[in-house]
Amino acid sequence: MIKKGMIAALVFMLMFALVGCGSSTEKTATTEKKITVVTDAAFAPFEYMDKGEIVGFDVDLLKAVMKEAGLEYELKNIGWDPLFAAIQGKTADMAVSGITINDDRKKTYDFSIPYFESTHMILVKEGSSIKSAKDLQGKVVGVQNGTTGQEAVEKILGKENKNIKKFENTVVAIMDLLNGGVEAVVTDNAVANEYVKNNPDAKIVAFEDPEHFESEFYGFMFPKGSDLKQKVDEALKKVIENGTYTEIYKKWFGTEPNMESLQQ
Ligand code: ARG
Repeated sequence: MIKKGMIAALVFMLMFALVGCGSSTEKTATTEKKITVVTDAAFAPFEYMDKGEIVGFDVDLLKAVMKEAGLEYELKNIGWDPLFAAIQGKTADMAVSGITINDDRKKTYDFSIPYFESTHMILVKEGSSIKSAKDLQGKVVGVQNGTTGQEAVEKILGKENKNIKKFENTVVAIMDLLNGGVEAVVTDNAVANEYVKNNPDAKIVAFEDPEHFESEFYGFMFPKGSDLKQKVDEALKKVIENGTYTEIYKKWFGTEPNMESLQQ
């Protein structure tokens, strides 16, 4: 009797589990799928690896925006060139990587509203004769391949110039500067400043040249026609307006953001 009762109970539990299972799969099928976000985590302080985790300003902002939008996501570090391929091929839904919004990219991708103003800086060894963008003439200059830093240097040195050395990421470009492979690196100002701040013994200095380097804005990037853009824009707007953005900015940069530059 006891045995029969136990079997009945087991059968009941099994049925319950199966029914439960069925309804939960239905649930995941009807709710939105997890969003795949891709990045190149070699761009501190925006995104970089720390003890096996992707961290940075962009990572915190993404978290706040996705929470606001009520969206589940997974952030993957796949590298810079692959990130563009993934968005174009729609194997990822969104890219967050200090990506500058520009007309050329807008032909292929959609962008969120801008979230960060940037310009370029030149990194050189202390005591270098390079003091301005013009001084880059005749010098071997390192850039991250496919970045607006590359474009900025091409404008000064010419597109086909063999002296422009293109690296897979910004970290290896700066390593090459330390090793004497290149005489300068051109990269985004916040990244240049972060490197100098974190590596006082490297004897590297960073400077701007507003005459040659324009201001530009970062945005989240989507496949063209993505319906995610509107949701993310709305959430990003809220996060900017409700003070969360300012908190994240202060955490990473130690200063108040210039909100006017974002809202123009
Ligand atoms: N802002 C520059 C660009 O869009 C460089 C961004 C590089 N980002 C990175 N995570 N490596 O071209």
